[in-house]
Amino acid sequence: MTTPFRFDAADSAADMLPEAKVLHLRRTLAAALFFAVVSLSCLILFRDVNSYRFFSTFRSSYPLAGFPSIFPSASTDSNATSNEYPLEKILNDAAMEDRTVILTTLNEAWAAPNSVIDLFLQSFRIGDRTSRLLNHLVIIALDQKAFARCQVIHAHCFSLVSEETDFHKEAYFMTPSYLMMMWRRIDFLRSVLEMGYNFVFTDADIMWFRDPFPRFHLDADFQIACDHFTGRFDDVENRPNGGFNFVKSNNRSIEFYKFWYSSRETYPGYHDQDVLNFIKVHPFITDIGLKMRFLDTANFGGLCEPSRDFNQVCTMHANCCFGMNSKLHDLGIMLQDWKHYLSLPPSLKKLSVLSWRVPQNCSLDSLRHHGSPEKSAQD
Ligand SMILES: *[C@@H]1O[C@H](CO)[C@@H](O)[C@H](O)[C@H]1NC(C)=O
Ligand SMILES: *[C@@H]1O[C@H](CO)[C@@H](O)[C@H](O)[C@H]1NC(C)=O
Ligand SMILES: *[C@@H]1O[C@H](CO)[C@@H](O)[C@H](O)[C@H]1NC(C)=O
Repeated sequence: MTTPFRFDAADSAADMLPEAKVLHLRRTLAAALFFAVVSLSCLILFRDVNSYRFFSTFRSSYPLAGFPSIFPSASTDSNATSNEYPLEKILNDAAMEDRTVILTTLNEAWAAPNSVIDLFLQSFRIGDRTSRLLNHLVIIALDQKAFARCQVIHAHCFSLVSEETDFHKEAYFMTPSYLMMMWRRIDFLRSVLEMGYNFVFTDADIMWFRDPFPRFHLDADFQIACDHFTGRFDDVENRPNGGFNFVKSNNRSIEFYKFWYSSRETYPGYHDQDVLNFIKVHPFITDIGLKMRFLDTANFGGLCEPSRDFNQVCTMHANCCFGMNSKLHDLGIMLQDWKHYLSLPPSLKKLSVLSWRVPQNCSLDSLRHHGSPEKSAQD
């Protein structure tokens, strides 16, 4: 398989939704799967197989009538499910002195108690000098339940829930709504850059164990973590993972995000990360002078390629993982491993005696146990 794995937020999140919701989707799922098979890579296929419930989740939030305004009005009503403040103010409140914010997106399933978001926040609290970074984290809620939970557990929440719901109810099966959501995220991030904010975008299934800022390249416009790192920061053969990147706000990065977003039309049916893999060698990028850098998995690891040395790790991503329960299981082990590392005396820490006990349930073996995609779609 030549495609790297990336199972992320939108995908396996759906596992926690009520079974009943999806019973009626199953027939259509077959069609959706077929669509996925013929049009997407095997990676995307697995994502879809595991994501069918997602379609129902996002049906109401992501109407197909084009992309609705991504800035819900700064509030004409006082409902707690809509933004009290405009995005600009939320970013300003959360930003570091150099106008950098940390952004993550959240949907209903990942927002549930004891789900991904709790592990994510916990990692900051037990990480090495990461708890202060929580002051700079803005959680972008993709549905109202996620927004409500965010307001309970975090200081900076922004609702990216569309007001225009329930359009084109029948059509949503034919268009992978989650792809739309992913693309909407790219468009949203472009707008953040246009407001003059640099950002670290992080999926919530990435554990923050150390402050990553000292590890970033100083001169890069766009730097991104990888499923597989070839050993060279500027090698386009690296397999970037869109779940973690650091982007400086400037004309080059803004142009790049516009180009990336518009490339969804050149490669219809593809995920933003696949399209990034297509366009990362495009002459346009050299033309605009964008400096792209790939981050070493030694510091920015994941289940695809773990950071071997606990003394070096900044973040660990639950990528290469199939299924929500597996993901939660392995993230829990990851946090335990980190706590164990912290409990070691300095001398033992230095010796790098520990290694991760993951992947366990996220391993490819467990993927095989799920059987063929068609079969697991009936799970
Ligand atoms: C606010 O909440 C009320 C009652 O829950 C609801 O009827 C109304 O439609 C909501 N307004 C918006 C804009 O969501
Ligand atoms: C973009 O370029 C214009 C002039 O070409 C300049 O005035 C502006 O400050 C630049 N914006 C950013 C964000 O660098
Ligand atoms: C993890 O894998 C083990 C062994 O296959 C299994 O018994 C257990 O139920 C799995 N746990 C979760 C949460 O999936």
